[in-house]
Amino acid sequence: MSPPQTVGELTDTLRHGSYVADRGLATALFVAISLNRPILLEGEVGVGKTEVAKVLAAAYDRRLIRLQCYEGIDTNQALYEWDYARQMLYIRALSEHQLADADAVDKLFGPKFLLERPLLDAVRAGDSAVLLIDEVDRADDEFEAFLLEILSDFQISIPEIGTIKAESPPLVILTSNRTRELHDALKRRCLYHWIGYPPPEREVEIVLIREPGISEQLTRKVVAAVNRLREIDLAKPPGVAETIDWAKTLNFLGETDLDGAIAADTLGAVVKERDDLELVKDNLAAITSGA
Ligand SMILES: Nc1ncnc2c1ncn2[C@@H]1O[C@H](COP(=O)(O)OP(=O)(O)OP(=O)(O)O)[C@@H](O)[C@H]1O
Ligand SMILES: [Mg+2]
Repeated sequence: MSPPQTVGELTDTLRHGSYVADRGLATALFVAISLNRPILLEGEVGVGKTEVAKVLAAAYDRRLIRLQCYEGIDTNQALYEWDYARQMLYIRALSEHQLADADAVDKLFGPKFLLERPLLDAVRAGDSAVLLIDEVDRADDEFEAFLLEILSDFQISIPEIGTIKAESPPLVILTSNRTRELHDALKRRCLYHWIGYPPPEREVEIVLIREPGISEQLTRKVVAAVNRLREIDLAKPPGVAETIDWAKTLNFLGETDLDGAIAADTLGAVVKERDDLELVKDNLAAITSGA
């Protein structure tokens, strides 16, 4: 599919892929795609940051390349690595005579023994890919500085092989849950969009688009209850993913309504911390009352 011409067109395409984007998010994505800029999506937990990258890739027939960040991630895991095990086997298979040959040793550091990791993969794939750099806030400072370098010129130098450059860069989507503040330099490279909890109307729409079999009435009740839960000071407030899970659970059990007793039986779909359970368990009647 060719790139979107308007924000409205992009919104429709996402919706077709079962993703509901508001005007702000759709506009930010539209600009990112059109101007070839990386986009940083920050927001609450479970509000569709990762999902939008997946849906975009599928909708525009691009390959999704995902770099999941975590504490301690380094360039070997992100860029490339030499396949030591294969190199060792290769060396052992060589005769002493062959080992003296410089070519044979050069081959050890050729493409055959290179393990491509997501960033190298993405530079090679160029604009036929969506590069999702997920949960970048979990990686540490040095890794962020290194990412900055990659994002600025989409070029990777491998001493033994040479420089690889993307003709036209992939669409880059970074996500963060704000467990720590990202550096200004990284933010400056990117467009930025904050995804908060959707207003109830839109959350109902999201549940129904994801799980069309669930009744609207039940969905409304669930969304109202989840919104009350979000008002309480919970350690892990429920995201949209939990709303969907809860509605699905109730629907699966054949429930058509939500009251305190039913909520108590199914609370595990939406509240997933022991302390939080303690906090809400006596108030379930109020939390589930009315839509
Ligand atoms: N706007 C939306 N439209 C459609 N589905 C959505 C939307 N927002 C959230 N979802 C649903 O919620 C689920 C969780 O979304 P996702 O994993 O993208 O959240 P996240 O923001 O990446 O969360 P985390 O911070 O935990 O990584 C998705 O699988 C999707 O089904
Ligand atoms: Mg995510």
